Amino acid sequence: MFKTITVDELKPGMYVQEILEQTGNVKIKNQGKVTSSAVVDRMKKQGIKVVAIDPSKEFIPLEGLGDASEDLEEVREPVEQVSFDNEVTKAKKIHDQGKGIQKRLLDSIARGLPVDISIPKEFTEHLVGSIDRNPNALMCLTKIREKDSYLLEHSLNVAVILANFAKFINLDEDEVLELALSGFLHDIGKIKIPDEILHKPGRLTDQEMVVMRDHVYYGIRTLNQMEIPERIIRTVGEHHERLDGYGYPDGARGDEISFFGRMISIVDTYDAITADRCYKAGMPSQKALKILLQDSPEKYDRELVQQFIKCVGIYPVGSLVKLNNEQVAMVVEQRDDQPLKPIVKIFYSIRGGHYMAPKTVDISNSQYEIEKAVMASEFGLDFNRFFSEKIAI
Ligand SMILES: [Fe+2]
Repeated sequence: MFKTITVDELKPGMYVQEILEQTGNVKIKNQGKVTSSAVVDRMKKQGIKVVAIDPSKEFIPLEGLGDASEDLEEVREPVEQVSFDNEVTKAKKIHDQGKGIQKRLLDSIARGLPVDISIPKEFTEHLVGSIDRNPNALMCLTKIREKDSYLLEHSLNVAVILANFAKFINLDEDEVLELALSGFLHDIGKIKIPDEILHKPGRLTDQEMVVMRDHVYYGIRTLNQMEIPERIIRTVGEHHERLDGYGYPDGARGDEISFFGRMISIVDTYDAITADRCYKAGMPSQKALKILLQDSPEKYDRELVQQFIKCVGIYPVGSLVKLNNEQVAMVVEQRDDQPLKPIVKIFYSIRGGHYMAPKTVDISNSQYEIEKAVMASEFGLDFNRFFSEKIAI
C-alpha cells in the first residue's frame, strides 16, 4: 500500500514509489531510495511537491556511506513539443501571471517588505517550460504592449527573449533558468526611482540620468538581501555595462563584463528600442537589430549580436507583415531554411478594412509573398485586443 506525502514530510530511509506533483522541467526518476537529506534537498530544489512512498521498502539510511545504488537520480526528460495553437492559451496565462508577480514584487520592494524569491523563481520555471514546449507562443506575447505597463512588460519580455536566446545558443537548462530569472529581476531597482523621472515622457536631462542610473545599484542591493545565486546578481548588475567602458554603474570594459552580462545588455536594449512608450512608438525589430549591429563590437559583443539576429530572425515571431494580397498577418513560426518565408496567421484585410478569422499559412508553401514588415499602428489596428480575443482564447 503506497502513502501520499509532501516533500516536506520526506525523510532519509523512505522509498519513493512515484513523483506525484512537480514543477519545472528536470524530472527525477520515479522510484528510488532516499539515502540522505541531500537527496531530499535536491528534490525540493527540483520543484518536487508531492510523492507516493512505499512504507514496506523503508530502510535504515547510512548517510555518507555511499549506498547510492538505487538512489533517486535526475533524468532530463525531453519536453514534449506542442503546436503554437496548443501553447498560446497557456502562454497567455503565464504572461498575465508574470505581470502580476512583477507588480507584487515591485510593491513589496517599494514598501520595504521582505521578498519571497521562490515566487519569481517558480514563475520563471513555468516560463521556461512554455518556451521548451513551444518558444513561439510567449515570443508572440512579447509584442503585446500596453503603454502604461512598460516596467512590468519590459522585465517579463527580457526574461522571455533572454531565455529564448540562451536556448538558441544551446546553453544548458540551469543557465537558461538563471538568465530567465535575471531578466525578470533586472530592473527591480527602478521602483526606487522617483516617478517624475521614471515616467518622464521624453529624454532625461543629464542630472535626471544620474538619478536613473542608480536603479542598478538599488537592484543589486535588494537582491543581495535575498538568497539568490551570485551569478544572477552579477548579470543584473551588468545589464547597462558596455564593452567600451561607457556603460554603468562601474564602467566595466571588455572581459570585465561576464558572458551573461553581454547577453542581457543586448536583449535589454532590443526590447527597450522596440517597445511602445507613452511618448513614442516602438521601432520595428529590424531597426533595433541594425542599431545593435552598428554598436558592435564597440558596445555589444559582435558574435553574440550576430547570434541574436539569427535567433530573432528577419521577421520575428509576433511581428506583423503585409502580404502581396493586401492582407496583414502575424508571424508565428520561423523556418531555419527559409528565413524570408515564415509561417504566419493572416488576420486583417487592408482592402476591406476589417479583421478576418485567423488563418494559418506557410508562406513557403503558398501563393502568398511577404511584401514588408509593418506596424499595427499603420492600419489603426488594435492588435493587442485582437490577439487576446481571437488568437489566445
Ligand atoms: Fe535597466
